[in-house]
Amino acid sequence: MQQEQNERTIPQSTRKAKLYGVGVGPGDPSLITLRAVEILQGMQVIAIPKSKMERESVAWEIAQAHCPSGVRILELEMPMTADKEILQAAWHQAAVKIKAELDLGHSVAFLTLGDPSLYSTYSYLLAILKSQLEPDQIETIPGITAMSAAAARVNWPLAIGDDPLIVLPGIEGLEEYEQYPNLVLMKVSRNLPDVLNHIQKTGAQAVLATRVSQTGEEIRLLSPGEVIEKVDYLSLVLYKKDRSEDLG
Ligand SMILES: C[S@@+](CC[C@H](N)C(=O)[O-])C[C@H]1O[C@@H](n2cnc3c(N)ncnc32)[C@H](O)[C@@H]1O
Repeated sequence: MQQEQNERTIPQSTRKAKLYGVGVGPGDPSLITLRAVEILQGMQVIAIPKSKMERESVAWEIAQAHCPSGVRILELEMPMTADKEILQAAWHQAAVKIKAELDLGHSVAFLTLGDPSLYSTYSYLLAILKSQLEPDQIETIPGITAMSAAAARVNWPLAIGDDPLIVLPGIEGLEEYEQYPNLVLMKVSRNLPDVLNHIQKTGAQAVLATRVSQTGEEIRLLSPGEVIEKVDYLSLVLYKKDRSEDLG
């Protein structure tokens, strides 16, 4: 295990402020790593990405029990839009705010639901900040992904043997991936009807997992022909082409 002094135990004059990308796991506060807890306990500033400033952050709800009381919260607006210009402006603004804290000597933990390296805004921030920081000023703390938590919840393997595992972000044109045995479909709230049609056509086994390990969790085995109009944004589908091993 990586041994490092807690941020608060190193005198401010001798420590270099760091950016931590902290994966807080899928929801259940007990599914956060010991390393993430260690980092959070020593933090001065917690950066929370929010799609709407008035909304509560799930990542903060998970992390707050592990943060020192009185920790400063830096809310960063990350609008949910496909507009590249708006997104880039938001990432740049967020990067400027984080860099300003680091320049003042304050370490910052940027919270990510699940793992910071999987479909996270953290990756865009890193791309901007990497050129402005020393390599030892950045540390990414992995987290349990929502897909791992969903697979564990239903006792399904994500992949076995030599089978590939394809992870797709709610895209059109699922047919392209028909030949693959294991798919994980993230962000399915965007195109659930396509996903359901695909399942009906292929007769695959699929599970819709919503808010895994959070209040309001819903896990259901999807039947061919099932109609569901809308799902929560925090939903994914685990999909297995082969029905020879019935996993239901
Ligand atoms: C921006 S991605 C973040 C993925 C995250 N970094 C991870 O490692 O799982 C958001 C998508 O992750 C999935 N997701 C995240 N948390 C979830 C949860 N607790 N239950 C089900 N799906 C979740 C949903 O598909 C959602 O649309």
